[in-house]
Amino acid sequence: MEGRLQDIYFEKFGKKPEMHVFSPGRANIIGEHTDYNDGFVLPFAIEQGITFLASTNQSFEIRLYAADVNESCIFDLNALSDRHDYGWTKYIYQAIMAMGHHHLQGMDVVFGGNLPIGAGVSSSSALICGFLTVLSRVSDVNMSQEALVEMAVTAERGQGLRGGIMDQFSIFHGMQGKAILLDCKDYSSVMIDMLQGDYTFYLFNTNVKHNLVKSDYNTRRDECDQAVDILNKSYKPIQSLRDLTVTDIEPIQSLLPSLLWSRASFVIEENDRVHQAVKAMQSNDAVQLGALLYASHEGLSKKYEVSCSELDWLVEMTLDYDQILGARMMGGGFGGCTINLVDGVLSTTFCKEIDQKFTAQFGHHPDIFSVYPSDGIFQKLIKI
Ligand code: GLA
Repeated sequence: MEGRLQDIYFEKFGKKPEMHVFSPGRANIIGEHTDYNDGFVLPFAIEQGITFLASTNQSFEIRLYAADVNESCIFDLNALSDRHDYGWTKYIYQAIMAMGHHHLQGMDVVFGGNLPIGAGVSSSSALICGFLTVLSRVSDVNMSQEALVEMAVTAERGQGLRGGIMDQFSIFHGMQGKAILLDCKDYSSVMIDMLQGDYTFYLFNTNVKHNLVKSDYNTRRDECDQAVDILNKSYKPIQSLRDLTVTDIEPIQSLLPSLLWSRASFVIEENDRVHQAVKAMQSNDAVQLGALLYASHEGLSKKYEVSCSELDWLVEMTLDYDQILGARMMGGGFGGCTINLVDGVLSTTFCKEIDQKFTAQFGHHPDIFSVYPSDGIFQKLIKI
């Protein structure tokens, strides 16, 4: 992959790049829609991602070439305009704006990779995080790791999605062989070893593209905020749903409209499941971890209502296969992938069978691929 990009770089800019940065996608074992509720998540950076090659160009222009889609774009740092509002360029524009007050240098960039877009593996965050890393290094911006992560969150929110910090944190801080138990209230984290033995996580991509900005994602955030407001007045002082535990679920039922209770109780239970999942991983109990994934999906589908028929179908069909210990939708929802805990490796026959059944049901093919916890941007930079 990098060899191909190196050749393209030389073709486009007539020189060799001075630096390369790899920005991975992310998977999430459990803890969905909890990050913006100050809760807990258990994600990891994956091997698939976007490679950036870059060097300074002694000008005030950022020239980019997106190799996978064969598109170019130039940003004039002296005359930035917000006309960059399509596809990948809008994320780059937001990233430059987020970096705004620093002295930025022009650069020539080629990027490309193997991260499916709109599949719930954070392709947009990988783009923003990788680009910000390259830009800060080329421009010699001295910034803490925390500031870089937060800047990436700000850039992404510029698109209208009021997302949490999970994606950007795992893309930057991922570590080979580990999942990250992240507390989204104070951003403290603990690295958790993956299950020992032949267990593999697979993603089944519905190939139903989700646009979270246009979906109900922000509505879910509003509903959680409304529940917090009501409970603050009628129950006890809380800052977020994270301040409640499973013992609060019953007493708050009569205080909230039933829709808000469904949303709130899902978030409270999901936070609890993250801690149970960590215990299961620490005691190498794959069966228990699998059961937690199923429970998470049930909540996401019925109580939080962010699933769709393709995701539900992909989770339900796994019940017929003993090799799959657990499955759930992953990421923002409304399309994208399921994550599956598999005992061993899925055979070609299995994948063909799922492909045929899914295609018969929905009229298009799913994609099936395995994911492994890999180094994030910071870890990779240390190892260069
Ligand atoms: C999207 C957001 C994340 C998180 C997930 C749901 O991926 O970017 O911050 O909220 O949805 O868990």
